[in-house]
Amino acid sequence: MQTLPTASSPDATATPSYGMEDWRSGYRSQPEEFAYWIDEVEGEIPVALTGTLFRNGPGLLDVQGQPVSHPFDGDGMISSIAFHQGRAYYCNRFVQTEGYVAEKAAGKPLYRGVFGTQKPGGFWANLFDLRLKNIANTHVIYWGKKLLALWEAAEPHRLDPETLETLGLDYLDGLLEPGDAFAAHPRIAPGQPDQGLEPRLVNFSVKTGLSSTITIHEFATSGSCVKSYHRSIPGFAFMHDFAITPNYAVFFQNPVGFNPFPFLLGLKGAGECVQFNPKATTKIILIPRHSDEPIQSIEAPAGFVFHHANAFEQDGQVFVDSIVYDSFPTLDEGMTFEAVDFDKVPAGQLWRFELDLTAETAEATCLIARSCEFPALHPQQVGQPYRYLYIGAAHAPTGNAPLQALLKHDLATGEEQLWSEAPRGFMGEPVFVPRPGSSAEDDGWLLCLTYNAARQCSDLIILAAQDITAGPIARLQLKHHVPYGLHGSFTPNYFGPEFAVAGEPA
Ligand code: CO
Repeated sequence: MQTLPTASSPDATATPSYGMEDWRSGYRSQPEEFAYWIDEVEGEIPVALTGTLFRNGPGLLDVQGQPVSHPFDGDGMISSIAFHQGRAYYCNRFVQTEGYVAEKAAGKPLYRGVFGTQKPGGFWANLFDLRLKNIANTHVIYWGKKLLALWEAAEPHRLDPETLETLGLDYLDGLLEPGDAFAAHPRIAPGQPDQGLEPRLVNFSVKTGLSSTITIHEFATSGSCVKSYHRSIPGFAFMHDFAITPNYAVFFQNPVGFNPFPFLLGLKGAGECVQFNPKATTKIILIPRHSDEPIQSIEAPAGFVFHHANAFEQDGQVFVDSIVYDSFPTLDEGMTFEAVDFDKVPAGQLWRFELDLTAETAEATCLIARSCEFPALHPQQVGQPYRYLYIGAAHAPTGNAPLQALLKHDLATGEEQLWSEAPRGFMGEPVFVPRPGSSAEDDGWLLCLTYNAARQCSDLIILAAQDITAGPIARLQLKHHVPYGLHGSFTPNYFGPEFAVAGEPA
């Protein structure tokens, strides 16, 4: 069994493709809320692009003036960009979580953050304060006529898709109890019209301790839950994401433990108490979606995975493509995220795990050695064999660095295309939108919210996925910045303002 992964060593003589001040400036709080037609557009927005892109991420990097220790602790802010007839409308709103509203009213931090942000008052104020603040900052999806802001350790918040107004916590028609978790990484199994299969949204939650219970929910397009099932596995589990195939839900049980004492004592956030054990193995857990057959647990080399690109079944084997770090990315004691030395934290790389379900073995191959994160693909290929992967990547082929480029990887030939926003641009997660009526897997657009340090503002870039080296076919310049975000999704429903006359905004 090989060691995972081989970190590519940086070229010490190379000039960095970015400036630290530029990178840091994308992590300024954005307290303002906007709503406007985007008038500054270079190139042309495709007229056939109709629908709404929703994005989530920390809008504030401080709580009432006190900086957060980690961006993952920042209050969730939703952005929407609605496309119609070659025009685009931008809107952003904070999710009015209980914590956000209470802290705003109090004018001071009232909660501890999962990633280490402490309340003022030191040891005694944080001791045994185990309340989690549901910050709703990780993902946003439109499903079953509901727009939901997701954060993995608590209930979703429902928002109005047109105004982004917060409607409240959503218990999914009684499926969830108050305080229940609902992961931030649902997968949508595409419909197979020829087999009479409708699309399904599949999501999970994990209850962990000495053993862990994974609960999986599957939802019809109406939003109603069609089935829920759960399985238990031994040991602690930190699972941010999963993957699906037609027959399995696939989870990686990373080789990490949890030392609760610094958290209970108020010295650290829960996320800081996760400890990586390089001597242990990763366990790949396959849970059958349609039967009570036993789960399979297959050992793979140690590595840490937040995100999976995709999984599929072929010739009786299961393939899983995942972004692997050689350890759990943590910061040194007392260090703020803004002072991070990219050369000293692990870089993500794309690895393929080929699972032999009979022999219960896993073979791992590195597909993309360049530092990369935030994978995307054609929605119809989710859980299916696929050819094209799109992913945020470092500008340089070796070493660790912020994401500045977009990479298209052809899994059939290994060919790659790169579009880089370096030196002053920084890349966010791409979202692939198929061109209506298209049949080729890469016939569509990539929508990426980038940060442009030269303008100190964000740009939404649209690239034709068949040739990303040609650069954006449209660059929409926002009037402000959106702090580096996490995840987002696209719906073909247009949620911008009504058009009074065809082609003319009201
Ligand atoms: Co994620």
